[in-house]
Amino acid sequence: METDFLVIGSGIAGLTYALKVAEACPDKTITILTKTQSDETNTKYAQGGIAGVMDFDKDSFEKHVEDTLIAGDGLCDKSVVGIVVNEGVERIKELIAWGANFDKDKDGDYALGKEGGHSEFRILHHKDVTGKEMERALLEAIKYKPNIKLISHCFVLDIITQHHLGYLVTKSTQDVECFGVYVLNLSTNKIEKIIAKITLLATGGNGQVYRTTTNPAIATGDGVAMVYRAKGRIENMEFIQFHPTALYEPGVRGQNFLITEAVRGDGGILRNQSGEAFMERYDKRKDLAPRDIVARAIDNEMKINGTEHVYLDCRHFTKEKFTAHFPNIYDKCISIGIDITKDMIPVSPAAHYSCGGVKTDEHARTSITNLYAAGECACTGLHGANRLASNSLLEAMVFAHRGYADAVKKINSLNYQQGIPDWKADGTNAPKEMILITQSLKEMKLLMSDYVGIVRNNDRLGRANRRLDLLHEETEALYEKTAVSPQLCELRNMITVAYLIVKCAEFRHESRGLHFNTDYPEKSVRAQNIIL
Ligand code: FAD
Ligand code: SIN
Repeated sequence: METDFLVIGSGIAGLTYALKVAEACPDKTITILTKTQSDETNTKYAQGGIAGVMDFDKDSFEKHVEDTLIAGDGLCDKSVVGIVVNEGVERIKELIAWGANFDKDKDGDYALGKEGGHSEFRILHHKDVTGKEMERALLEAIKYKPNIKLISHCFVLDIITQHHLGYLVTKSTQDVECFGVYVLNLSTNKIEKIIAKITLLATGGNGQVYRTTTNPAIATGDGVAMVYRAKGRIENMEFIQFHPTALYEPGVRGQNFLITEAVRGDGGILRNQSGEAFMERYDKRKDLAPRDIVARAIDNEMKINGTEHVYLDCRHFTKEKFTAHFPNIYDKCISIGIDITKDMIPVSPAAHYSCGGVKTDEHARTSITNLYAAGECACTGLHGANRLASNSLLEAMVFAHRGYADAVKKINSLNYQQGIPDWKADGTNAPKEMILITQSLKEMKLLMSDYVGIVRNNDRLGRANRRLDLLHEETEALYEKTAVSPQLCELRNMITVAYLIVKCAEFRHESRGLHFNTDYPEKSVRAQNIIL
């Protein structure tokens, strides 16, 4: 199969890009691939909303820039922050024009929310299901573009480069080029090649590397692992953001339900086992301090008290007030026997967002020619050492737009690469025992949660490294002799991503933003990015 533009991922980044390219180039073909159902994305689960300066009487671009820089703890690229904040408002307007609805107040103005680290109310939202509404609007909009083809249940295995034409490709090879991808078509169970002139990677996050995460099962870091294998540049993987308040449900592992930070923005208070509003002891911004600070404070309280969670107290809300903004959370809590007007909500931190990823420039270009990246899989320089809440949906739209604008300028000068061989599956057999995959997965999640979580130290990182080495070796051996499956490929990708997180963490001899190492508790004088 050949396509002018190939888009891997059907979340906000992939769909925004595809819509824009389709509008600008009605004579070109655009193919979107997604590994499960088209709407099963991190985007769908976004709750709080999308940050953007909408009320210029109280707010300003300068304030949004400043808040982003403070959260990023010295590592944001200031020019990128300016780009995202300034251009983001246009992108939000386009999203609204494509049909996304955001809540308004009684005067007809957008009802703006507030979250940790924001100095003003600037979060547009749709109740507490903002991502679901955005995903709905975008999927609806692409239906009207006849030159877009969306193929679901199509698992991308690897990016095709000169390596597949028989050339030696290493980290120092100049001008590695992307010619398309190999995919496992889950409808036919066949491995196919899709040749593309330009490819956008929009594969989302990697929360599934950890035992407790707010991310759905698709978030296995496939894009980052593929680019690393293809010898592309990866940046700042140590900065994993743990959301402070995932709902604590004993026994629930895989995807933990999120209690949006907007609940604290509206007045929810964190309390420990003794009922103390402990955030006062940690930061003068209390419950609305940036996420790294709140998550570490909760982690500390849990360790001191020997508990598995703290509480979020919303008992001072009326049911009417709470359900007006957070109906989904209210229903979820009721379904497990928690009435938020009477009971406190048990919460604990969970892996939520990857600030690092595939290194991109200000046009969303990766280090691999004709391969772009946008959304959570990319490291644009916006978030630095810690992402400001609700900045990621904005970033995804801004860089999807920038990638599209760059790509359409050169599409007419590109041709399809000829002579790409079929996927080689000789000598592989159906897996004999799934336990070889599932047990390795459990081990990886456990070691990442216990050794490479909110608080790290050199011994823990060293242990994680050694254990990952063994898992890597065993998984590669299994991969060599086994027919590919999504489970095996995801395990392989997650082990690669876990290794990249640990490697970057080991290289960072300081504590900054989301990376806290008790052996290096101070910030180094020179802030720098780690690029692998
Ligand atoms: P995604 O939306 O995750 O889409 C990834 C796509 O890639 C999927 O279609 C998937 O199938 C596809 N894919 C991945 N690997 C492969 C493969 N191998 N082959 C084929 N397809 C593949 N951010 C905010 O700004 N505001 C919020 O309020 C907010 N709330 C959040 C709440 C939750 C619970 C979570 C989990 C995240 C939240 N975030 C929020 C973060 C934000 O939702 C994500 O960063 C953003 O949606 C990522 O979008 P994306 O387009 O990059 O990727
Ligand atoms: C939330 O709603 O708390 C999540 C917001 C985000 O991750 O940006």
